[in-house]
Amino acid sequence: MIRLPSLSSLRLRFLLAVSLWVLLGIAAIWISAASIFSAHVEQSYHEELEVHVRELARLTEIAPDGAIRLSRPLSDPRYEVPLSGFYWQVTAPGREPLRSRSMTQGALDESIAHSPEILHRVDSGPTGAAITYGFTRRGPAGEDIHFVIATDQSELDRLIDAFTADLALWLAGLAALLLGTGLAVIAFGLRPLDRLAAAFGRLRRGEALELEGEYPAEIAPLAADLNAYIRQNEEMVARARVQAGNLAHSLRTPLAVITDEAERLTERSECAASGAVLLDQARAMEQQVEYQLARARSSAGRKRSGKGVVIPEVAVPILRAMERLHPERRFTMRATGCEGLVLPLDPVDFAELLSILLDNAGKWALSAVTLTFECDRKGHFTAEIEDDGPGMAEADIARAFEVGTRFDRAMAGSGLGLAIARDLAEAMGVDLAIRNGERGLRAMIRFAGDGVIE
Ligand SMILES: Nc1ncnc2c1ncn2[C@@H]1O[C@H](COP(=O)(O)OP(=O)(O)OP(=O)(O)O)[C@@H](O)[C@H]1O
Ligand SMILES: [Mg+2]
Repeated sequence: MIRLPSLSSLRLRFLLAVSLWVLLGIAAIWISAASIFSAHVEQSYHEELEVHVRELARLTEIAPDGAIRLSRPLSDPRYEVPLSGFYWQVTAPGREPLRSRSMTQGALDESIAHSPEILHRVDSGPTGAAITYGFTRRGPAGEDIHFVIATDQSELDRLIDAFTADLALWLAGLAALLLGTGLAVIAFGLRPLDRLAAAFGRLRRGEALELEGEYPAEIAPLAADLNAYIRQNEEMVARARVQAGNLAHSLRTPLAVITDEAERLTERSECAASGAVLLDQARAMEQQVEYQLARARSSAGRKRSGKGVVIPEVAVPILRAMERLHPERRFTMRATGCEGLVLPLDPVDFAELLSILLDNAGKWALSAVTLTFECDRKGHFTAEIEDDGPGMAEADIARAFEVGTRFDRAMAGSGLGLAIARDLAEAMGVDLAIRNGERGLRAMIRFAGDGVIE
């Protein structure tokens, strides 16, 4: 289906303006050219008829027997062809009228020829409406001789129609040419905006750090301002992260003192209950502080990298690190069909997300962890991390992403991994889910945007 551009499109507005302008221009040319031509043709036609009627009078003779005759035929041969649309007639009272050979039927109305001055009007002739010219001249006996010349109006119309048909053809060609150049100018003029949109796309997909490219003077300040705004924003976010990290850090020591004090209170029987509440709350605060510190550590001072996530390369160093961290587990990776896929995501964030999930799988697996990348033709991508450990109770799965939740106290950890993983997934715009698989736990990262196969 053809998608029509919306009315808010600049292209459509320009196109409408150009079309309107071309249409108005062509209509003006059409009207003025047609009227100038008709006036011109009519004038020369009339002049010609005047010449003919004068010639007719000059050639007319009255024979000795009183008959009207011509000393020679009129110079225009069309008066000789029967019903050609060109007729003449000479009449005088008491004499046989003389008519052109073309007039095999009918007669011309001689009333137009009633004065020595040449007069004209449109009359009905032998073959339809005719432009008729006539005047009188005195004969040898002092009688009025009437000279009439007529030409079918349709002759003149035919000339004008032929011209307007030609004019229409030429003007249609001219309109097409003007519209074509108009379209080309619009396309050329708006190309920088397309480039700007493409640069935005690259920026949004994380392939570029700022709006790249050279732009014309009208757009360049906009691009420069946007770049300045992006930089300023990034610096602000980085500063905020550092400040959150600093705040968390400064709370650490007082919190440790409070926790210590709360522990001591629980040992005294008279305030054991209050001590337990204090201790609980202090631990919760400690976890939040650790979480904020971990987030600040992972993102503070880091510049976004311009490249996307390259599958499966992104996972290779992580798997190597995991093998060292959990030497008794076997890590395997499958990436059939996804080799060379580049996801428009931040590679550092993506690597951190994979590390958290692989670390959990390594911690709880009995012996094996598999990482599987899958992608389909629509550009949908999934990464699945599966272990052969105990999995999790369904009720625990729902809470596993909260800060500080740990369900297996026997295993070391701070309960922050999945909370950070969820934050990272949200920041990248990917789906993250965990569920129990056939053997152990299965974590899934799903990305529905467009990947690029290189
Ligand atoms: N693959 C897994 N198999 C079984 N249980 C898991 C698995 N992954 C996570 N869990 C459970 O979810 C809890 C939360 O995981 P999370 O990664 O947030 O914290 P952690 O691994 O305990 O600590 P951290 O990652 O901060 O060192 C874990 O304590 C564990 O009980
Ligand atoms: Mg963990």
